[in-house]
Amino acid sequence: MSAAPAEHLPVMVGPVLRALDPAPDARIVDATLGLGGHAEALLRQLGPAGRVIGIDRDAEMLARATERLRPFGERFRGVQARLSYMSDVVRGQGLEQVDGILMDLGVCSAHLDQPERGFSFREDAAESPLDMRMDQSRGETAAEWLARADEDELTDALRAGDVPAPRRVARALRERQPLRTVGDLLAALGDVPLPRRRHHPATLVFQAVRMAVNEERHELETALEASIDLLAPRGRLAVLSYHSGEDRTTKAFLNREAKGCVCPPELPYCGCGRSPRMRIVVRGQRPDADEIDANPRARSARLRAGERL
Ligand SMILES: C[S@@+](CC[C@H](N)C(=O)[O-])C[C@H]1O[C@@H](n2cnc3c(N)ncnc32)[C@H](O)[C@@H]1O
Repeated sequence: MSAAPAEHLPVMVGPVLRALDPAPDARIVDATLGLGGHAEALLRQLGPAGRVIGIDRDAEMLARATERLRPFGERFRGVQARLSYMSDVVRGQGLEQVDGILMDLGVCSAHLDQPERGFSFREDAAESPLDMRMDQSRGETAAEWLARADEDELTDALRAGDVPAPRRVARALRERQPLRTVGDLLAALGDVPLPRRRHHPATLVFQAVRMAVNEERHELETALEASIDLLAPRGRLAVLSYHSGEDRTTKAFLNREAKGCVCPPELPYCGCGRSPRMRIVVRGQRPDADEIDANPRARSARLRAGERL
């Protein structure tokens, strides 16, 4: 079995394996398969009866991962689907519940390495169409979304992506229509001098547009809810996020499920009758300095995990 090229190193593999802590015969869903780095590590750790179901909405990533994981035979199954449909995918594989779920959110380095997909604003991508769909067979492209969304929708999406001065940026994007290429979007951003914080301002705008086009917040929220019924007792959920909004969503979900009761604090007794359904096992772990040196993409990663009670 060949090792993955260095630029496609999966993030926080050791901490992810420890967070999932699978028994040798565990059935695991890797709900964001990508190039299959985490799935391969899982398949190597599991015993001969352990299985991984890999899901990706991107046909190309799925094909590349399936090829990579072919040596594991029947122990790996790959399915093209959205994260939010993972319960249906698992049922389609003849299972009701699983022992672990991994979500490694966002896009792969392989997406950013393909200028023609419109995800990156590298120099060689200037003429690329603004597509940004992970599943290129359906849905609006980024160019179509940018042409259709009104100022409020654009502002909301940019704010959700932590873009500074979201209303100003939204106006600049409305005024510069049509935005067909990566270069068009960069030129529109050139009209709004944005403070350079930790990232180049265009990084946050491209990320916010990508998250809107792929409905990433809705995908994560739906999948987190679905994970409760999908996990067998003592099954583990591990989520790796690269964006503060996604990390906040995951943290809020785990805190809520670990607390159980959702009554307002001023209520003197519990009226909701809900009891805890998860136990938190990893709270916002970051990669160590050596990993960040070896793989700069890991820099913004946060790992959270919970165990189904
Ligand atoms: C960060 S990469 C995963 C990398 C992977 N863990 C590895 O080791 O190679 C995220 C992958 O999830 C996929 N993805 C993101 N959001 C998705 C969603 N809502 N439904 C299905 N796949 C999704 C992307 O297409 C991408 O291939």
